[in-house]
Amino acid sequence: FRITDKLLSFDLYYLYLLFILILVKLYYVKNRNPLNYPPSPFSLPLLGNVFNLDSKEPHIYLTKLGHAYNNIFSLRLGRDKVVFITGYKLVKEALVTQAENFVDRPYSPVQSRVYSGNAGLFFSNGEMWKKQRRFALSTLRNFGLGKKTMELAICEESRFLLDEIDKQKGAAFDPTILFNNAVSNIICQMVFGQRFDYADHQFRTMLKYISKSIQLEGSIWGQLYEAFPAIMKHLPGAHNDMFSNYKLLQAFVKEVVVKHKAELDPSEPRDYIDSFLIEMMQKPHETTDGFDEENIVPCVLDLFLAGTETTSTTLCWGLIYLITYPEVQEKVQEEIDRVIGRSREPSISDKANMPYTEAVIHEMLRFGDIVPMNGLRVADKDTSIGECFIPKGTAILPILHSVLFDENEWETPYKFNPGHFLDKEGKFVRRDAFMAFSAGKRVCLGEQLARMELFLFFVILFRKFRFSAAEGEKLNLDGVIGVTRTPHPFKIHATTR
Ligand code: HEM
Repeated sequence: FRITDKLLSFDLYYLYLLFILILVKLYYVKNRNPLNYPPSPFSLPLLGNVFNLDSKEPHIYLTKLGHAYNNIFSLRLGRDKVVFITGYKLVKEALVTQAENFVDRPYSPVQSRVYSGNAGLFFSNGEMWKKQRRFALSTLRNFGLGKKTMELAICEESRFLLDEIDKQKGAAFDPTILFNNAVSNIICQMVFGQRFDYADHQFRTMLKYISKSIQLEGSIWGQLYEAFPAIMKHLPGAHNDMFSNYKLLQAFVKEVVVKHKAELDPSEPRDYIDSFLIEMMQKPHETTDGFDEENIVPCVLDLFLAGTETTSTTLCWGLIYLITYPEVQEKVQEEIDRVIGRSREPSISDKANMPYTEAVIHEMLRFGDIVPMNGLRVADKDTSIGECFIPKGTAILPILHSVLFDENEWETPYKFNPGHFLDKEGKFVRRDAFMAFSAGKRVCLGEQLARMELFLFFVILFRKFRFSAAEGEKLNLDGVIGVTRTPHPFKIHATTR
């Protein structure tokens, strides 16, 4: 009896061992990379390279890995593999030369929980993305983008901003929320048909939710949710705040849409929302085009989110850099006084005569590294980048930080140097490696608007005020990394010139 018992436990032991070996084999076969697939650092079963993610400065860490792996490598984050591309040459190859192959975005567990499915402007794909992107661009143009009316709206908004700064009477203040509100009011006028007072409590709360959500989405919490949605869904953590913030933002936009519906006069659209509602009512559309009730809130929210945080963050970095380098601030002010003077409103046409200011704004965008990681893309078919094979369906991330700080492209990549955009005669020069707005078919939809806002707000602010740090204080040039790279809270003085 004892012998049979022993034999049985012996058999069970081998059965378990066999079972484990089969699991390991299946796991290996499932995760086996095809020939010439981008190399990868050692990864753990199930968890993959999750411990390779640097939570404080992932863009710098990933760029360093790029140096070690010839600018292309892969990491496995949970179930999904992502190929990272670094350096101007390979990023250009992916985004520009092979634009057609990488036009779509991959499935995102975060976005599908927020929007459920193919929706909005940032995460939509296929026909819907094409139609919605075209519609958004032409509607923004109808409501002033690239026209004199837009310039006037920005100049008008600047007056409100200057008044608010005047109210500080030279005392130290944090300009972040004011800049956020002023910049947001421009996209709000085009999308919602209205601006919001700087004291509007509900609007200020929405702006806070936007900043926090964008920060959390790019943080380790957002990345863990993307990698392990099924587990993270049930765990406590800051990712839950991100989802509740998005819910509140959606509710806010929904309320505005309902109000627009009630007041709609189809013969006189006031803004993007009216135009979307008219498009829904009047023209027959394929259901795949996304002109429906479910898609209006995601599209509006994408414009509101993308149009607020990025541009105002660039202005904040501009303040920090020009306070840190007062000689640059003086040179900008000298050019503003000489070309525009004090007696008239600045105009976008002044840009052509202000190469130094134009170079400083470009350097603010480069050195500020506003969207350091970029948005994910997916290979629409089997292809190759450099020497590596990229199978259809692979997610890729072309890291913008690695391009904006590429040592082969920039003379002094780690120094704030407007000279990067000036020739020997002091004329403005475009640089191919300037990819702050990304490149290719999904290049930032708001680039033209952002450039216009940056120039006019910047010139109007520095014409009126000299900005400085509090006595004996040095401003922190490090950033907080989310989807955008934002300054740590800071305070400055504004003195009327
Ligand atoms: C300094 C300001 C800005 C910067 C640095 C910036 C940067 C970016 C970047 C890097 C992308 C990802 C592109 C890609 O995946 O290749 C993007 C996409 C986008 N941006 Fe901006 N952006 C700025 C301002 C704006 C503004 C003002 C708007 C509002 C209209 C806007 C709307 C969008 C939209 C809708 C997309 C998604 C485009 C698509 O997937 O087709 N952005 N932006």
